[in-house]
Amino acid sequence: MARVLTGIQSTGTPHLGNILGAIQPAIEMAKDSKNESFLFIADLHSLTQIKDGALLRENTYAVAAAWLAFGLDTSRTVFYRQSDVPEVTEFAWYLSCYFPYQRMTLAHSFKDKSDRLADVNAGLFNYPMLMAADILLYDAQLVPVGKDQLQHLEMTRSVAQRINHQIDPKHGSEILVVPEAMTFGTTMSVPGTDGAKMSKSTGNTLDVFADPKDLKKAINKQIITDATPLEDPKDPDGSVVYKLCEILMSADDAAEMASKLRAGGYGWGHAKKALLEALVDGYAEPRARFSELMADRGAVDAELKIGAEKAREVAAQTLARVRTAIGY
Ligand code: TRP
Repeated sequence: MARVLTGIQSTGTPHLGNILGAIQPAIEMAKDSKNESFLFIADLHSLTQIKDGALLRENTYAVAAAWLAFGLDTSRTVFYRQSDVPEVTEFAWYLSCYFPYQRMTLAHSFKDKSDRLADVNAGLFNYPMLMAADILLYDAQLVPVGKDQLQHLEMTRSVAQRINHQIDPKHGSEILVVPEAMTFGTTMSVPGTDGAKMSKSTGNTLDVFADPKDLKKAINKQIITDATPLEDPKDPDGSVVYKLCEILMSADDAAEMASKLRAGGYGWGHAKKALLEALVDGYAEPRARFSELMADRGAVDAELKIGAEKAREVAAQTLARVRTAIGY
C-alpha cells in the first residue's frame, strides 16, 4: 500500500485542461484500493499571491466543488483544506531551519515568479518549505506532480534526508519518510482555445462549469478559425475546434466530424456548435453537481471538515515525533 499525496492550487474554478489533465486521472488513481490517498487544496500557498480573503475562500470552494462534482470519493481519499491543518506551518518552520539558504536561492519557481509578479514576498521565497511540510507531515511515499514541481520534490527529499541524518547521524533513523515524485507522464496535453497548452495564465481556457451562453461566447470568440467558405473541404487536423472535439467525443463521432469537414459543406460554425454540445451535454452531471455544491457551501465545508479531522490526526503524530527528535 502506498500513501499518495498531492496538493492542488486554489487559483479559481478549474478549467477543461485541469479536469482532463489532473482531476480525472487523480480520481481514477484514488479508486485503486492499493493506494491510500491524501488530496488537499493549497490555500496557504495561495496567500503568496492572493490577499483578498473573500477570493481566497471562494477559490477554495470552487476547487473543492469541482473535485467533488467529478466524483472524488471522500470516504477513500482524505480531502482537506491546507489551512485547516495549521500544524503544517509549524512544521514548515522546522524544515526551513534545516535547509540551506543557498539551496533555496536556486529554486527556479521563485525566479520565474519573482520576474513576473508584482508582490514578491518572503512567503513566495519560502514556498518550497511549506510544500515540503505538506508532503512530509503525512509520511507520503508517492507525490504525483507536474514537471514544473520536480525541483520542489527534490528539495523535499533533500530536507527530509538532512533531518534524518543531522538529528540521528549514527543511525540515520527514519524520522521522516523520503518521498518519490511521480510525474503524470502520460497526461494528455489539452490545447487551449489558441492552440497552445490550456493554461489560466494565458487566458485560453474553457470553463466546463460555465453557463452555456458564456461557454458559447468563449468558444465563438476565443477560437479563431480560417475563412474557408462553408462549401469547401477543410483540414480537421490543423484546427483547435476539431482537436478539442476529438478529446471530448467518442472515436466514432470524432471520425464522423473529420470526414464531414474534409468533404466540405460543413463549416467551423457547425463544429463549434458540436463542441459546445460535447461540453454541455457530455458534462451534464458534473455541471449540475457543481452548481448544487456552489449553492450549498455548508455541504462542501462538511466534506472538507471530515478530511481535516483525519489529516490532523496524522499531522499531530508526525509533529510530535519531529518535536521530540529536534529536542523540544
Ligand atoms: N506547488 C504545487 C503546484 O503549484 C501545489 C502544491 C502545494 C503541492 N503543496 C503540494 C503539490 C504538495 C504536491 C504536494 O502545483
